[in-house]
Amino acid sequence: MCGIIGFTGKKEAQDILLDGLASLEYRGYDSAGISYFKDTGKISIRKTVGKVADLRAICDDENNSTCGIGHTRWATHGGVTNANAHPHKSGKVSLIHNGIIENYHELVETYDLKDQLISETDTEVAAALFNKLYDGNPEAAIQKAVKLFRGSFAFCILFKDQPGTIYAVRNVSPMVATYCEDGSFIASDLTAFIAYSKRYFIVPEYHILTLTEKGIVLKDLEGKEVTPEYLEVSWDVTAAQKEGYPHYMLKEIHEQPAALTRTIAPRIKDQLPDFSEDNIPDSLFEHCTDITIVACGTAMYAGTVGRTFIQSTLHLPVTVSIASEFRYEEPVITENSMVIVVSQSGETIDTLEALRLAKKYTKKTLAIVNVKGSTIARESNYVLYTHAGPEIAVASTKAYTVQIASFYLLACKLGLVLGRIDEKSAREFIGMLQKTPDSIETILKQAESVEHLTKRMIHAQDAFFIGRGLDYTLSMEGALKLKEISYIHAEAYAAGELKHGTIALISEGVPVIAVATQKHVYSKVISNIREVKARGAYVILLSKDEKITDKSICNVHIRLPETPDAFTIFDSVVIFQLIAYYASIGKGFNPDQPRNLAKSVTVE
Ligand code: AGP
Repeated sequence: MCGIIGFTGKKEAQDILLDGLASLEYRGYDSAGISYFKDTGKISIRKTVGKVADLRAICDDENNSTCGIGHTRWATHGGVTNANAHPHKSGKVSLIHNGIIENYHELVETYDLKDQLISETDTEVAAALFNKLYDGNPEAAIQKAVKLFRGSFAFCILFKDQPGTIYAVRNVSPMVATYCEDGSFIASDLTAFIAYSKRYFIVPEYHILTLTEKGIVLKDLEGKEVTPEYLEVSWDVTAAQKEGYPHYMLKEIHEQPAALTRTIAPRIKDQLPDFSEDNIPDSLFEHCTDITIVACGTAMYAGTVGRTFIQSTLHLPVTVSIASEFRYEEPVITENSMVIVVSQSGETIDTLEALRLAKKYTKKTLAIVNVKGSTIARESNYVLYTHAGPEIAVASTKAYTVQIASFYLLACKLGLVLGRIDEKSAREFIGMLQKTPDSIETILKQAESVEHLTKRMIHAQDAFFIGRGLDYTLSMEGALKLKEISYIHAEAYAAGELKHGTIALISEGVPVIAVATQKHVYSKVISNIREVKARGAYVILLSKDEKITDKSICNVHIRLPETPDAFTIFDSVVIFQLIAYYASIGKGFNPDQPRNLAKSVTVE
């Protein structure tokens, strides 16, 4: 969590830092700050509780410094206060940090740093330690300090007597950098400097970077110079902007048809799934006896759809684990088990640690990841990139639909390799998958009617999402979306399970969003819906029926396109996303930046 940026070059740094921080704000928005070299050689700091806009308001219009660092915080150690905001300063050192220094208490004791601390943060301890170890040689101080830290970190450091220079080092927490004609940039992710360069390199762990106006020097901890490996992205700055939409979330909801096409199209040859360009060989699927899917949040819910679909169509055992539980539940994985980890950011620490554990048991690890070159993508044996483009809103939308499409492609391939489906049905299936972008376009045209129906929901304390089979797995994502951005308490229930307890919570006017698209359980879901309706629920029903006028079933009926059962989830989830979005703005919240949250969770 936390977003960091550094710039040194020919241009004035302040706007570059503030604009960069604005694009990193999805990583945290409790407080923000910058520090920079003044022409007197001194380091100046501006920081405040609140968002980047609040920081901008207290920055000096006349600031012409060309070297500085900036930070947007998601609080871990210590509350949301000015003192805990970054940058921190200790003696000659000013720094920003993303990550957690786990042994900071120990370091305070061992290096007698207590008197130098004014905040409650682990970061200030790191600043004090760097300062203590600094004798005029920044690299030597960094080499010594990083060997003492336990935990994750991405640091950008200014030393008072090294004007114009930024030092950086990282372990686990992500950092990318580039040198271009405007100068040297470093940041938590590329969106922060994409306006200046599409070329970048991933900062290797435990390497020291020295950034100046003239270039970037990268060295390992023994002081040996290393040549950075530059990559280039295919998207540009507009992909990371709102492009006329009021919020990133709405823009990203609308980008789903294009994101799906980008993800599906390159994996189809001769109307069959083909992963040769992803370097995923058929041998990965051969002899596969079972699958474990591991992820967090929305990515985990996409995995739940994957499980239900693969298990029921291929009759292969599939389990889904919450990544933060996986390591502690003695997973049963053998060499023929396939482990699929799913992550939009590719940096979620629990998912990364789960992957590391899984690799001890099997070589069949595959990551479904959106961010190119991210840690999970680099560490997994195989990677299937989703091509959603940058997802900025904290609430995941387009990443979810492309993750499901990836599972469908993988399921089809797996079925062919294991001989559980034939080529004819695989081709038919792929043909249906290719139609999902068009079907979502149809749904997006109904966005305004969804806005209208949420007016009824914004006063609700609780809401329930119910369905069976794939509709149930999808309901979990619907409930998560609603609660994370509208703060309405929402639960997902398998429709048949309600009467075993939860139905006690249904009272007059409680919204129940029901989905009934799966033919084999349709009549059973309708009976379950009647049960809640009879107890006063306000039922919004999503189904493929032409018209439902029976008031004993629902108050509002949303008609979904006539797509095959396995594919209606793509349409339904877009309705769920729109319900959550409009509920959030209807309540006066900013759906892009829900309280207490950050986009990528790099703490355990
Ligand atoms: C979804 O809306 C969330 N913000 C969250 O659940 C997210 O999906 C989860 O933290 C996993 O992130 P990842 O995909 O980047 O690993």
